[in-house]
Amino acid sequence: MSHSMIKICLSLLFICKISLALDNGLALTPPMGWLAWQRFRCNIDCSNFPDECISEKLFITTADLLVSEGYDKFGYNYVVIDDCWMQTNRTADGKLQADKKRFPNGIKALADYVHSKGLKFGIYESVGSKSCEGYAGIAGHEQIDAQTFAEWEVDYVKLDGCYTDEQNMNKSFPQFGKYLNETGRPMVYSCCWPFYQERKGINVNYTLVAQSCNLWRNYGDIQESYDSLVDVFDHFALKQDIWAKYAGPGHWNDPDMLLIGNFALSYEQSKTQMALWSILAAPLFMSNKLSTIKPEYKKILQNKEVIRVNQDKLGIQGKRIYEDQGIEVWMRPIEPTKAEYYSFAIAFVSRRTIGTPFLYTTTLNKLQMKNPFGYKIKDLFDVNSNIQVLKSNSTLKAIINPSGVILLRADIITQHEDIEKHLNEFYITSV
Ligand SMILES: *[C@@H]1O[C@H](CO)[C@@H](O)[C@H](O)[C@H]1NC(C)=O
Ligand SMILES: *[C@@H]1O[C@H](CO)[C@@H](O)[C@H](O)[C@H]1NC(C)=O
Ligand SMILES: *[C@@H]1O[C@H](CO)[C@@H](O)[C@H](O)[C@H]1NC(C)=O
Ligand SMILES: *[C@@H]1O[C@H](CO)[C@@H](O)[C@H](O)[C@H]1NC(C)=O
Ligand SMILES: *[C@@H]1O[C@H](CO)[C@@H](O)[C@H](O)[C@H]1NC(C)=O
Repeated sequence: MSHSMIKICLSLLFICKISLALDNGLALTPPMGWLAWQRFRCNIDCSNFPDECISEKLFITTADLLVSEGYDKFGYNYVVIDDCWMQTNRTADGKLQADKKRFPNGIKALADYVHSKGLKFGIYESVGSKSCEGYAGIAGHEQIDAQTFAEWEVDYVKLDGCYTDEQNMNKSFPQFGKYLNETGRPMVYSCCWPFYQERKGINVNYTLVAQSCNLWRNYGDIQESYDSLVDVFDHFALKQDIWAKYAGPGHWNDPDMLLIGNFALSYEQSKTQMALWSILAAPLFMSNKLSTIKPEYKKILQNKEVIRVNQDKLGIQGKRIYEDQGIEVWMRPIEPTKAEYYSFAIAFVSRRTIGTPFLYTTTLNKLQMKNPFGYKIKDLFDVNSNIQVLKSNSTLKAIINPSGVILLRADIITQHEDIEKHLNEFYITSV
């Protein structure tokens, strides 16, 4: 790729932010937590899967483990139910009700339990006449359902888009958001609206989406495979010049859940997802069985520095800048900044399938990192790595494993005296 093309791509990182956004004071950084769907789906067979079926037991156990395994300390604090918690019909006075066998104590008691652990509680519904799995939807009961969620002390609502007309979503989703707002209880509002309209080829009004929702799904469900992960981030790269500008504090594009800790992703691929979800300013929802996660995967999920990139206060969604020899370079502008200079998170993602690690060489200049005082650079997956000072003309040599990633944090140096000695060449190797 030519140097001028790289320059154009990089300048697109700095598109001005949209100013009008949902004003509920929530999700000022991408929300984090745990969501049942990807790993547990609509498993309602509690006799064969007592620990995995959609039941209050699953959410109680998860809340316990989020705290006892320390995930809450890293920011994973929303416990969110997905589909299949409710009955197909309502109470005589028109209220939603939980399945009595699987949630014998009801949703309010479950929310109370989650709150007692210092966590927040989220619930699922669909804007249509039924949920995606055929349970009661909110259509025709929007106001009473918003009130019910507030009475149950829900903190987060994921609203899906099955069994409805996609053309009407630019009315139905904002309307439900209005009902949520009118309850007076702050609830994060997660909308699946853009995905359903994108799928039908309808032009999504993302200005309206960002004014109405705290986060939204743009693309299909992530599935349990590396191919699915690649498909999702390729699609986010394809659409980045349309989508990325709508991300910011309080309003986020959502590429869907983390697969880390489950069956499909290798260690390298798990780091790749964690790195890219941080570059993309993506909501970080695990969907995994917290009791069985191997320690090295738990370390990826609990990497404080990677999470710090994800939670960067500027809220700028990063982009894929270019691809060269099977290595993709992704960058996200982050704090601290000075004048026109940003700090950056930089991910080198290997799409190579040849079995040996690949040496990729570049310079900060080529990445448009031109801060005159240079940058303090750190390898975020190597906890033992030292911070190195590099300048624009320094060379970066990254040795990247197949399907793996190297994620760097480059903080700008703002004072002349901060520079001791800069490196002309910096070698980084996947660990
Ligand atoms: C709800 O559905 C169940 C079975 O699916 C039925 O037994 C019950 O009568 C229904 N209740 C109402 C209020 O319609
Ligand atoms: C909603 O979408 C429909 C069909 O795509 C369009 O005709 C209408 O103008 C849109 N309304 C708003 C408020 O964006
Ligand atoms: C409701 O919306 C208003 C106006 O945007 C906002 O100031 C307020 O914080 C919102 N309240 C809740 C509970 O979301
Ligand atoms: C999109 O929504 C915004 C905000 O409601 C509105 O001002 C604008 O006219 C809409 N655009 C289209 C094409 O409907
Ligand atoms: C980079 O520039 C500095 C001066 O800013 C110089 O000291 C150094 O030798 C240069 N390095 C290379 C590799 O050209």
